[in-house]
Amino acid sequence: MATVTSTRPYHIIIFGASGFTGQFVVEEVARSAFEGPSGSLKWALAGRSRQRLEGVLNQAAETLRKPELRTEVEIIVADVSQADSLAIMCQQGLVVLNCVGPYRFYGEPVVKACIENGAHCVDICGEPQFLERMQLEYHSRAMDSGVYVIGSCGFDSIPADMGILYTKNQFKGTLTAVESFLTIHTGPEGGCAHDGTWQSAIYGFADSGSLRKLRKKFGHQPLPVVGATVKKRGSLFFSKEIDQYAIPFMGSDPSVVRRSQRFLYEGHQELPVRSNTTTHLYCLTGCLRSVTQRCYIVVLLMRRGLARQENNQLFPEFFSFGVFTKAGPSRKQMEGTSFSLTFFGEGYAEGLDPSQGRPNARICTQIHGAEPGYVATPVAMVQAAITVLNEPQFLPIKGGVYSPGAAFARTTLIDRLNRHGLVFSVKRF
Ligand SMILES: NC(=O)c1ccc[n+]([C@@H]2O[C@H](COP(=O)([O-])OP(=O)(O)OC[C@H]3O[C@@H](n4cnc5c(N)ncnc54)[C@H](OP(=O)(O)O)[C@@H]3O)[C@@H](O)[C@H]2O)c1
Repeated sequence: MATVTSTRPYHIIIFGASGFTGQFVVEEVARSAFEGPSGSLKWALAGRSRQRLEGVLNQAAETLRKPELRTEVEIIVADVSQADSLAIMCQQGLVVLNCVGPYRFYGEPVVKACIENGAHCVDICGEPQFLERMQLEYHSRAMDSGVYVIGSCGFDSIPADMGILYTKNQFKGTLTAVESFLTIHTGPEGGCAHDGTWQSAIYGFADSGSLRKLRKKFGHQPLPVVGATVKKRGSLFFSKEIDQYAIPFMGSDPSVVRRSQRFLYEGHQELPVRSNTTTHLYCLTGCLRSVTQRCYIVVLLMRRGLARQENNQLFPEFFSFGVFTKAGPSRKQMEGTSFSLTFFGEGYAEGLDPSQGRPNARICTQIHGAEPGYVATPVAMVQAAITVLNEPQFLPIKGGVYSPGAAFARTTLIDRLNRHGLVFSVKRF
């Protein structure tokens, strides 16, 4: 098993560092290097093109004004299609930060290589099919080799998953249900996401039917239900909580949160919190002005079969109404963008039996952070890796394939995120 004391050359290897997201993960690792074990972090970049990786290092050195990055950080050439190259990469590191997506196409060989070569694997996948299949097929192998494979450690789905754990910890009593609302605020420059996420999303939508079959294979028993049922929401609904229209969130958050709640129930006998995750559709009258509104139209089109067409792969900007572009957001757009995720929880006050009567206590919490895709995601991913390196004693007792909530429930990840601009707070009890 890989441990922090092992003699591997690197604590962290960023695989896919030449990708749009990868380049920002590189910058975040460089900024956070002092937080590594014993105050330093040995790290390397990996990917299939040495030249592109050198370009990323040069850019990071310039942006961060750290010229030493050019000479101090090593490059490893590895390609998903060459198993030997992945094995050699994994043998050199304690944690691989995998930024190569869509994960449904490229993720499995990396998970396999990490397990076989004793490196922990942290990814930013937002594809429930991939995440759940990895758990089904690799959990026992990862357990046997003591390797932690922790998926969805980006904006999808650390805020949603850790936010529910935070809300539960702050609640004075037994929290039974949570509904959360995401709002993305864009500045005058507007905002968008990179084509890489679009590709991952369209294939996921096109294949959403396979998820039901996959879930049957787990053979899970239903989780116990305590308190009032969570409101079933339609495709577009008016929420009294936020006094606005909202739509269901189409990403991996609901799947990830459910997996964490199941793990905490089955492994630690904690009463599961039921949840609904929604996207807040604000400013309906200023049509097409906000990213959220455009996302909604995209989601509707995807549901109606757009995802099955080949053209949207070639022209993401056109087919997504500018929500996703080949160039991705500019740094200026990112600076003007932020998000808030608000949790409305209910349950039973301290001393009351949750199996009796209706919930009688409420809480509202919030996570506020910078631009989700390429600022908050690198922060969440890097802090997840630093937590794996620094707090192995608080991770689940054995390795395995875990959601963030399952892996990090007993760690200080939330404090770490708070220190890095992903701020968790209680709005009201
Ligand atoms: N969780 C979140 O909130 C969140 C946020 C942002 C992104 N993401 C996810 O992150 C993933 C990457 O997105 P992106 O926008 O950064 O995509 P991208 O720019 O297309 O980057 C893809 C990366 O994969 C590499 N790659 C492709 N095929 C490879 C192979 N055979 N061997 C080795 N490397 C290979 C590419 O290398 P080359 O440079 O050599 O082509 C590139 O570095 C997507 O799945 C996206 O959904 C998630």
